Amino acid sequence: MSRFVHRSLTIALLASSSALAASPAWGQCGGTGWNGDTTCVSGYVCTAISPPYYSQCIPGAAPAPTTTATTTTAQPAPTGSPSTLRTILAGGYGSTITTFQFSPSNGSISVSGSCASGSSPSWMELSPTNKNILYSTNEISTGGMSSFTISSSGICSRVGTASSNGDGPAYMAVFTSGSEVMAMNYNSGDGISYTLSSDKLQFTNPIPIAKFPVAVPHPHMVAQYGSEVFVTDLGADKVWRLARSGNAWSITGFIPQPSGSGPRHMQIRGSTIFILHELDNTLSSQPIPSSPGANSTTTISSLSVLPPGITNNYPGRFHAGELIMSPDGAFLYASNRDTATPPDSRGDAIAIFSVDSAGHLTLVKQVFTGLQVVRGMTMSPDGTFIIAGGQQAGGVVVFQRVNGGSDLQVVASNAGAPATTTFVWI
Ligand SMILES: *[C@@H]1O[C@H](CO)[C@@H](O)[C@H](O)[C@H]1NC(C)=O
Ligand SMILES: *[C@@H]1O[C@H](CO)[C@@H](O)[C@H](O)[C@H]1NC(C)=O
Repeated sequence: MSRFVHRSLTIALLASSSALAASPAWGQCGGTGWNGDTTCVSGYVCTAISPPYYSQCIPGAAPAPTTTATTTTAQPAPTGSPSTLRTILAGGYGSTITTFQFSPSNGSISVSGSCASGSSPSWMELSPTNKNILYSTNEISTGGMSSFTISSSGICSRVGTASSNGDGPAYMAVFTSGSEVMAMNYNSGDGISYTLSSDKLQFTNPIPIAKFPVAVPHPHMVAQYGSEVFVTDLGADKVWRLARSGNAWSITGFIPQPSGSGPRHMQIRGSTIFILHELDNTLSSQPIPSSPGANSTTTISSLSVLPPGITNNYPGRFHAGELIMSPDGAFLYASNRDTATPPDSRGDAIAIFSVDSAGHLTLVKQVFTGLQVVRGMTMSPDGTFIIAGGQQAGGVVVFQRVNGGSDLQVVASNAGAPATTTFVWI
């Protein structure tokens, strides 16, 4: 059973879950490296919510047991750092992907190697079905994507390449099947999907995705939602909903966002979407309409992610960056990128939010990182650590999630590390 099982579950539910050998309400039921049960207790359905890393038991067709009403707030703290050496790969706007070795036992993180990546591997994803295969964007004007194999010592080797069909692919997603990828071009406002070859290293069957139908589209991220694909569009102030029919992707509707908010990155838990807005620096939660064509929804919560006491948030100073969710779905972590000259001497902050079972957000803490421009931060798949990098300065910092996830504690840092925008834990 996952170490992140909610300890506040009632005895009755725990007893029934172990008797049935099923994962508990809101518990993990699948994902990268998961060896536990892939079924859920009665009333819950195992759903891929953070592909490829995490599948979770969310309320399903059957009525949820009443015992779960208060189960989503209290989370156990990690009990001591696992001592195993961890390997982390990082990319950015250089032409290499860097391998880090992180030792939780002595608090060190050091560079152990690198590989040639082509220009600007600014976003990376691990294959959900083969942990020795990595993908990256090549975020340049003639945008591309690359595939890599990863050696046993964690060093990558570039194998396949493909066009992204546009300018500035800032994001690519690997679907949970491990057989399909989709990239979005931030500058040209379009994208492309590919089917991967059986060895997962070659990009085949390109399906171009047309420029989104607004004056200046800026698609920022792709997320799977059932058979649909969601795309946050900073220029449109929409989350587009796409569906595939035959060999084409088309828009079936959208989830509207406030004018000028600039939706950037998102997380999905069950049928709730959490969206980090780059331009107005808010994090919001909304129910996802069951009908793609609804084109309207309500807002559950909308809160600022700016550091406390900011009085000079002149337009364009802060640009909310990355949004990550804990494996249990109970916490969200948002970075804000401070582009002031000079920036806050404490570095960018990470805003920590708790999320209740209904999707309400509560700001619980802001943790300063000492890093400048935190565009990339990634949680270890087990939810124990978060690595964050300074795109502008500061190197990398590894935090351990403590106090159940409501706080972050620095466990390793390397100020001399290269500038980074993306990480993958292997
Ligand atoms: C930390 O431990 C790792 C092995 O776990 C070792 O390779 C590294 O040299 C150690 N670093 C320091 C600073 O002691
Ligand atoms: C919702 O948006 C889609 C895409 O823009 C459009 O095709 C559809 O007609 C809209 N639905 C309604 C009810 O307006």
